[in-house]
Amino acid sequence: MGTAGPPLRSAPTRAPREVPLAQQVRAVVAKAVKEPVSIETVTVPDPGPGEVVVAVRACGVCHTDLHYREGAISDRFPFLLGHEAAGVVDAVGEGVDDLGVGDFVVLAWRAPCGTCRSCRRGRPWYCFDSANARQPMTLGDGTPLSAALGIGAFADKTLVAAGQAVKVDPRARPEAAGLIGCGVMAGFGAAVNTGGVGWGDTVAVLGCGGVGDAAIAASALAGARTVIAVDVDERKLEWARRFGATHTVNATGRDVVEAVRELTGGHGADVVIEAVGRPDTYRQAFLARDHAGVVVQVGVPTPEMTVELPMIELFGRGGALKSSWYGDCLPTRDFPVLIDLYLQGRLDLDGFVSETIALDAVEEAFARMQRGEVLRSVVVL
Ligand SMILES: NC(=O)c1ccc[n+]([C@@H]2O[C@H](COP(=O)([O-])OP(=O)(O)OC[C@H]3O[C@@H](n4cnc5c(N)ncnc54)[C@H](O)[C@@H]3O)[C@@H](O)[C@H]2O)c1
Ligand SMILES: [Zn+2]
Ligand SMILES: [Zn+2]
Repeated sequence: MGTAGPPLRSAPTRAPREVPLAQQVRAVVAKAVKEPVSIETVTVPDPGPGEVVVAVRACGVCHTDLHYREGAISDRFPFLLGHEAAGVVDAVGEGVDDLGVGDFVVLAWRAPCGTCRSCRRGRPWYCFDSANARQPMTLGDGTPLSAALGIGAFADKTLVAAGQAVKVDPRARPEAAGLIGCGVMAGFGAAVNTGGVGWGDTVAVLGCGGVGDAAIAASALAGARTVIAVDVDERKLEWARRFGATHTVNATGRDVVEAVRELTGGHGADVVIEAVGRPDTYRQAFLARDHAGVVVQVGVPTPEMTVELPMIELFGRGGALKSSWYGDCLPTRDFPVLIDLYLQGRLDLDGFVSETIALDAVEEAFARMQRGEVLRSVVVL
């Protein structure tokens, strides 16, 4: 054995890795604006410090995924879509001590940082620096993907910040549990957190998709005396009744403001929730509220939309015009509550699951959503 030359450094001996190597998984990607989504092979890196990889079990198709594909949210294509998901922790990075492999989690697109100006003022539900995974997931050629709402869960596995993975009771079906990760929480919280719906209130909900129906369910649970569901689609109104609507109004060929007033003793509703995201429905919401009433906008508009309102009504009616981002929720506080209500049979999460589909059927699910045939199509993996 020669001794000349620089001493050979012995190969580092490593403990067996507890986390797998970067993994290749199937995922739904929107590559270009308004083009159909496609299934791509995506690289999910090992979880770094403060990150976890989650094996996705189910992920709902939300209107916001379609907004991404339409280029209405950002132009940072390509997007890895999907964000209403439940799954099982697959690997944890350094410094993650409150989650372990095998934990059942719902993914959240809000993980308060604790240090931004809003968190410091005790309002973490507005956190301006919510945590996401630091490393990007990538296409085969290394192109980084923008994960929808910092999640990207139309995929066998996804990488998120540990704070985005919220442990919940594993007895909940993944198809139902995942829905609280976005649409159900957004609608539920819009009513009870943002709108402050309580016992004896009158409520009108404009737009009875997954988000609107969750607002209806929350209002009913909170003890609202009247819950008016408004939609242009008769099927949606029928479903809204199942979630607790006491009255329904078909907005086609009907003056919505008049109808809401009629059903509230001529006054308008205490809380009106706009869950469509359009100027005409916002205006209806604005005019259908009682004096000192609250309008909650949870529907997401596109950048070119504008709305014109009579200023005297802005002043004269008082009350509040609010928007609701994610139902002003705190996922670690609110997700386990919604899962408990579900397991007790008091919140019908299964009622939101219109169909379960395979990963390659997301594009068709967008079309069914646009035709109003479903509340939620849920990808099951
Ligand atoms: N603010 C948030 O944090 C948040 C979170 C999730 C989703 N959203 C948004 O909420 C909105 C609703 O989401 P969704 O998943 O329930 O969508 P959806 O497409 O399932 O539901 C929209 C509903 O509005 C109805 N509608 C359409 N035009 C109408 C009109 N003129 N009057 C009354 N109803 C009408 C449709 O028939 C449908 O039932 C979307 O804009 C979505 O992007 C917001
Ligand atoms: Zn913060
Ligand atoms: Zn969503």
